[in-house]
Amino acid sequence: MQAYLKLDHIDKTFTRGSATTEVLKDINLTIEKGEYVSIIGHSGCGKSTLLNIVAGLTGATNGGVLLENREVNAPGPDRAVVFQNHSLLPWLTVYENVKLGVDKVFARTKSRAERDAWVIHNLSLVQMAHAKDKRPSEISGGMKQRVGIARALAMEPKVLLLDEPFGALDALTRAHLQDSVMALHQKLGNTILMITHDVDEAVLLSDRIVMMTNGPSARIGEVLEVPLARPRKRLELATNPGYLKCRQRVLEFLYERHSFVEAA
Ligand SMILES: Nc1ncnc2c1ncn2[C@@H]1O[C@H](COP(=O)(O)OP(=O)(O)OP(=O)(O)O)[C@@H](O)[C@H]1O
Ligand SMILES: [Mg+2]
Repeated sequence: MQAYLKLDHIDKTFTRGSATTEVLKDINLTIEKGEYVSIIGHSGCGKSTLLNIVAGLTGATNGGVLLENREVNAPGPDRAVVFQNHSLLPWLTVYENVKLGVDKVFARTKSRAERDAWVIHNLSLVQMAHAKDKRPSEISGGMKQRVGIARALAMEPKVLLLDEPFGALDALTRAHLQDSVMALHQKLGNTILMITHDVDEAVLLSDRIVMMTNGPSARIGEVLEVPLARPRKRLELATNPGYLKCRQRVLEFLYERHSFVEAA
């Protein structure tokens, strides 16, 4: 497999005073260009820690991350992150929130008019151009996540990192936004690494599902290929044997082989 993004022998230990906790142990994963990979595992196993290492927000204790064969160990616009909790700046409008990143990344390569058009284009991709002059407090949670996704896409990242991007949304909004992200992935061909707790979401969206064992010292327990043709339609998949088989496999992993253990 061609390694576009490579997580290479990653260990992560947190130290506070004399106490150390090994959160991640020997994480190895290779992701192809254009692939949609989800990471699923119980709360506290280290999923966000792993995503933060890929984003360059946290350093690995051992091992590292390679993007197109180059080590990345600091944050950069080539890896845009969307968090569960809308991280828009409240004092800026929707437009300005997206513009901020665009101005930084394209200061030299796009003119002022081109940057303006690019912001609007990306807001249109997530159906939010109509709300461009609103502030975050004036739009719903789902709309904020859409703007967060537009802001990430607008930086033309090599990899889009999503940390439970739909986690705080109600079921209907969540389904709607999942469909939008699927459509964007189909249209733009982004490489996506997404964390989720939701088995159906993982199967619906992913090409592969990475299942993590419980921490401490969480590892990759199993990687499941999701061989379902795209575009995928949630209603049709609900009775599709291939879909149900994948779903069952992930459920078995999470609830039989690695059931949640409350940390002491
Ligand atoms: N900065 C930190 N210092 C010390 N320990 C940390 C730090 N960040 C995370 N941890 C610990 O690392 C472990 C993994 O945390 P992480 O947030 O990565 O889990 P997670 O799988 O994303 O959980 P959730 O599904 O609840 O979001 C937890 O035990 C947590 O307490
Ligand atoms: Mg997390």
